[in-house]
Amino acid sequence: VIRADFAVRHAGQLCTMVARGDDPLGRIPDGALAASGGQVVWVGPDRDVERIIRLDGDLVDAGGRCVLPGLVDPHTHPVFAGSRADEFAERLSGITYAAQQGGERGIRRTVRATREASEDELLQLAVARAHRFLAHGTTTIEAKSGYGLDQEQERRQLRVLRRLAEQSPLRVVPTLLAGHVVPDGVGRADYVQMVIDEMLPALKPLAAYCDVWCDPPAFTAAETRAMLARARELGYGLRLHAAQVAPGEGPSIAAAMKAASADHLEYATAEQVAALAVAGTVAVLCPGANFTVPSSPRPPIEAFRAHGFNVALASDCNPGTSNSESLTFAMTLACVEWGVTPAEALVAATVNSARSLGLDGQAGVLRPGASADLCVFDVGAPEDIPYHVGVNRAVLTITAGRTWMAP
Ligand code: NIG
Ligand code: FE
Repeated sequence: VIRADFAVRHAGQLCTMVARGDDPLGRIPDGALAASGGQVVWVGPDRDVERIIRLDGDLVDAGGRCVLPGLVDPHTHPVFAGSRADEFAERLSGITYAAQQGGERGIRRTVRATREASEDELLQLAVARAHRFLAHGTTTIEAKSGYGLDQEQERRQLRVLRRLAEQSPLRVVPTLLAGHVVPDGVGRADYVQMVIDEMLPALKPLAAYCDVWCDPPAFTAAETRAMLARARELGYGLRLHAAQVAPGEGPSIAAAMKAASADHLEYATAEQVAALAVAGTVAVLCPGANFTVPSSPRPPIEAFRAHGFNVALASDCNPGTSNSESLTFAMTLACVEWGVTPAEALVAATVNSARSLGLDGQAGVLRPGASADLCVFDVGAPEDIPYHVGVNRAVLTITAGRTWMAP
């Protein structure tokens, strides 16, 4: 007999995401799960529950709906103020995202709005976003700074992420994105030096990962290497925004430095995809950002597939390219725009994204030892999740064995 303080019963299909036989989703028909102290202690067929589980606590009846691990979103920018709706509209008439990165628009505009907001305002905005993540079935996010771009402002953004993690049931993995773009009023070389000498060492206690955008509107290959090398020395895990708006060395740098993830990758070459696979670097693709930047090509999906599909999907929640907390919508886009299969999309939004965050076995799977983070989706089969377009089928989100109540 296994003691539990939380259980789910009657899942039409319980997706463990532990591949079994020819099912990459490791599903258990009419499945059940038990947890204790926030951790999964048992998964199996519902008919075994009464014999095996002694429950003293909450019971959720999934009523034949599908149960999946809480989704893991491996690339988000949730701490910002202001809107760039006009830039979204402008791109529809042909202005490119790269061209919007100069002057009064683009990332630097969000930097201005974010610097002007108080820390409590930023927290409030981030908490509202956290609610939307949870409402759409996401229980873990990677979350970047990057709209501060000086030491005190980046610290403020990371502090907001820490406070968010303390007061929200969402798991938040913080990333320092001081290398987003060069801020107004500072020379390029001076800024890169300041990141290396001051920001990276000072902000290490607040961030698990360091990210740099290596693309023409942002940083060169040499600048990217210099910042990431210092970050690695200091013990940060590495992530890159790479080859989003042009071909370049970003993906090769990610592979050479064995980064945890290389993100976007629309312009990655087949050779770069092969190198990323050998390095074990997860390719984090951002369909939402691709979708609202009309000139973007599709990332090389076939090459990823040929190299074992070490691919994760992200919402890329941000005010410029992807104003969305819905990872299930990103899955839909990956399927219809890029030809990713629904099963691939599900793996990419759970196990693979967890791996990119070093959370293997802890998040993105339902098996003993994993955190009891899960979501009940009102669908007949998990493959139906991306098939439902633009509507939210997540009906109940549970984090660490506790039911999340929408505010
Ligand atoms: O992931 N490419 C750079 N960073 C973000 C966009 C940030 C913004 O436009 O505010 C991205 O697409
Ligand atoms: Fe991004």
